Amino acid sequence: MTDFEPKIVSKEELSRISAEVNPEELLLFDNHCLSAHYEDKVLIEAKEPGSPWVVTKDIKTGERTEIIDCTSQNWTLALGFAHPDVNYAVAEQMKRITHVKSSVVSPARAKFVNKLAELAPGRLKDGRVHINNSGGSLAIEAAIKLALVARKDADQFLVFRGGYHGNTLAMLTASQPIHTITRFRPFGVDRFVRCPQPYCYRCMWNYKNGLYGQKDPQCNLECFELIKEYLTGLSSAKLAGVILEVWQAAGGHIPFPPEVLVKLREVCNQEKILIIYDESQTGVWRTGKYFTLTEKYEKELGLDLSPDIMCFTKAIGGGFPLGAMIASPKIRKRFTPSEDHTTFSSTPIGLTAGLAAFKVIEKGKFNENCEERGKQITKRLKELQEKYEVIGDIRGPGLFIGIELVENKESREPHKGLLNEMLIEAVRQNIFFGPSMPYVSGTGNMSMYNLIKIKPPLIITEEEADYICDKFESVLKESLNNINKK
Ligand SMILES: Cc1ncc(COP(=O)(O)O)c(C=O)c1O
Repeated sequence: MTDFEPKIVSKEELSRISAEVNPEELLLFDNHCLSAHYEDKVLIEAKEPGSPWVVTKDIKTGERTEIIDCTSQNWTLALGFAHPDVNYAVAEQMKRITHVKSSVVSPARAKFVNKLAELAPGRLKDGRVHINNSGGSLAIEAAIKLALVARKDADQFLVFRGGYHGNTLAMLTASQPIHTITRFRPFGVDRFVRCPQPYCYRCMWNYKNGLYGQKDPQCNLECFELIKEYLTGLSSAKLAGVILEVWQAAGGHIPFPPEVLVKLREVCNQEKILIIYDESQTGVWRTGKYFTLTEKYEKELGLDLSPDIMCFTKAIGGGFPLGAMIASPKIRKRFTPSEDHTTFSSTPIGLTAGLAAFKVIEKGKFNENCEERGKQITKRLKELQEKYEVIGDIRGPGLFIGIELVENKESREPHKGLLNEMLIEAVRQNIFFGPSMPYVSGTGNMSMYNLIKIKPPLIITEEEADYICDKFESVLKESLNNINKK
């Protein structure tokens, strides 16, 4: 095996591909790019290898700035930009082989599948793993395919208000509709039925004291009674599965109360409905745990709330494209060769990067760092909550933090303009924050666009966590001033 030594094109020419972009190239890009959505900053390189800071260049002015990224680029870069250990493992893989067809077993594929089966919680332990080279949408579609095979007389899936499961045509249908933001009539509407999501801060049954992701102490879990109706006959066809985000992410960082998950398991067992957790955002460490609440509840409450199938993407690829699904070994079905392959689905690079990331997190104890820094930031945010009427709720374990912005704490009315203002002001102050997904009605009315997310890489230091909190307050103050001036 040799190091990289270009044979045909010069090193300078090859290096320039990623190092720079000139104004003429950007102008041409603006003409040719089909996607209308791109930001003013070009991300050039990590400030240092494995850093939450990134060097950016402004499209219009050419100005270079260092920005701390609390979005981890779609909540993906658990180890920051260009982590050296992951990159080393990937470079080693690249020297050997960069692509194999989907039926080939590469060393990384064997190790990755085994690793996930070994780590998986509860009824998923020693389960069967599916991988893809894309991400969450394909992982959930694989879960749906498996459920269809396993429950062959049932073909509908229960999904929840505010759920987001991806952007393929089928997953758009499974996700909270964003009418008028996308123009596609959903495909396969008969395959999904949507039901309200338990939402303790905004309880449909008017319990007023849900806060910080916890239910009102008086609550009698009426929300589950509604879910139960769907599970036991209200849906328009027989249910094969129920797909849920244990801690709903895009829809606003909204957790399922553990008591609901306990009851869900009872009814799903009785009705032979498979439980599918979409852990695309929350899985593998973002909450400080491998498997969000499954692991937390097992440790803290002694409950096995593991599902029948669990899906992942984002951090699991170590910053490279990868999606994965693990199913309980009790589902004694396998896919036929034509049922689950794609051209790049056995990607050695993504699998190697993912395995390297597992090792870095475990050895570096970054899951513990995630919990610590998460507590540190959340504590500061709660102090700010005392001071600012617009901070309604703060939700999320670990570095999976969402802050609900409200007109005032009493009414809990979602704040209308503040989120947007803060996102713009944050970039001015060299920090990226992220937004939640809005709800959009058929006439284009937008609501619930009021949750701001702080989800930096899990490697941030104590000083960086303080810096993020200082910046959050400064961005909030300035944004409120800007709104008042309008
Ligand atoms: C919970 C959840 N599921 C699924 C997806 C879709 O993943 P992908 O965009 O990789 O297809 C996402 C993406 O943000 C997500 O947050």
